[in-house]
Formats: sequence, structure tokens, C-alpha cells
Amino acid sequence: MLGMSPAAGQDKILPPMSNRRIAVLISGRGSNLQALIDAVAAKRLDATIAVVISNITGAHGLDRARQAGIPGVTLSHRDHSSRDAFETALVAELRRHDVGLVCLAGFMRLLGPTYLGAFGEQTLNIHPSLLPAFPGVDAQRQALEHGVKVAGATVHFVTGALDGGPIVAQGAVPVDDSDTADVLAERILEVEHRLYPEAVASVLDGGWVIQGRTYRKLP
Ligand code: GRF
Repeated sequence: MLGMSPAAGQDKILPPMSNRRIAVLISGRGSNLQALIDAVAAKRLDATIAVVISNITGAHGLDRARQAGIPGVTLSHRDHSSRDAFETALVAELRRHDVGLVCLAGFMRLLGPTYLGAFGEQTLNIHPSLLPAFPGVDAQRQALEHGVKVAGATVHFVTGALDGGPIVAQGAVPVDDSDTADVLAERILEVEHRLYPEAVASVLDGGWVIQGRTYRKLP
């Protein structure tokens, strides 16, 4: 289990994770899910994708899971009376599949205390900006409107702060004057597809030293 709150000033070393079964949570297209599936198949990522969970019925990512022979589950937040009830069901599903690490990949729901109390220390997200710049939706458009010259992607641990958890890995791309949000998103996506499997492998392998919100890989 990943400890997230070492006492102030105290280093903490994360050991390798003994449970390498991961869940991927999606809401749509699932291209990052595909990158994880491909990395497992190519043995670049030593893990088992135990389940893919979508909160949206018919999400394309569920087809990708099916094609890869991975159990796909639709868990619609609309079928639950409250955020708590939805998260309780989500946690039960993750436990049923004996998951050690959860990867959010375009999962468009905020996760609250019920979920975070159970899996908050074992959940990663990928976001299409160089955090802490441009959290939230439409990160690529935010970046363009701000006039940045470099953009990118970030893999981070999930906490209660929107796109604000400790950073595991980042990758950068140049921004061209002629870019539209879609063109920039495509360029960032190429980085995401390389970055996410590498970051997941790195977290599973352990050997991180944590101080406060700073995570560094031991040499
Ligand atoms: C990606 O850009 C990811 O960074 C963001 O949502 C998008 C999901 O794309 N969180 P996909 O569903 O993985 O293709």
C-alpha cells in the first residue's frame, strides 16, 4: 500500500507493489487504456489489467477491453442515488477484482472521500497539461488561450484536490502558433500513450522516496 502522508521532514520509501493487478477507469474513447493494454501485451508493463470500468454505457473503451479479453464493467453514476452510493459500488467492484492499483484514463467523475478512503493511495490519473498549469476540463484549450509555448501531460496520484496530487511523471511537447486545441491534443496524446505505461510500471516497481508531496525515484 502506498503511504501518502509521511510526517513532515520524514522520508518514506515505497516498496515494490506485491499486487500487480490494475483496474482502468474510463468514460470514453479509451486510447490510454489501449496504450496500457499494448504495453502489457508487449511486456513493457509487467501487470495484469484485471478489469476496465466505465461510468458511461457504451464507451468505446469497453470495446477495446472486450477485444483484449479483459472484463469490462459499466457502472453508471446515474444508477446510484448519491456520489457515496456510486463510490461504494465502485470500491466493491475493485475489491471483487482484487485490484492493487487503479488507473484513471479519461474518467470524467470526481472521486470523493468514500472512494479515496479505500483506494486514494493507490490511484493514478493522466492529465493533458503540465500540472499544476491548467487543471480541470479543456486543458489543451486553456494552454492555447494562455499562449504557452510548451505543453504536455502529467501522471499524478489522485487526491481530493482536482488534478492536484503528487506528480509521478511528465512529458512536454512544443506548441505551434498554428495549433488548434484538437491538433495540440493529438500531439499531447502521443506523449500520454508513452508516459502512462512507463509511469504505471515505475509505481508498481516501487523504489520511490516521498517527502511531502514530492515523489522522487531512487537512483
Ligand atoms: C486524455 O487526454 C487524458 O489525458 C484525459 O482524458 C483524455 C482521455 O483520452 N484525462 P482517452 O479516453 O484515453 O483516449
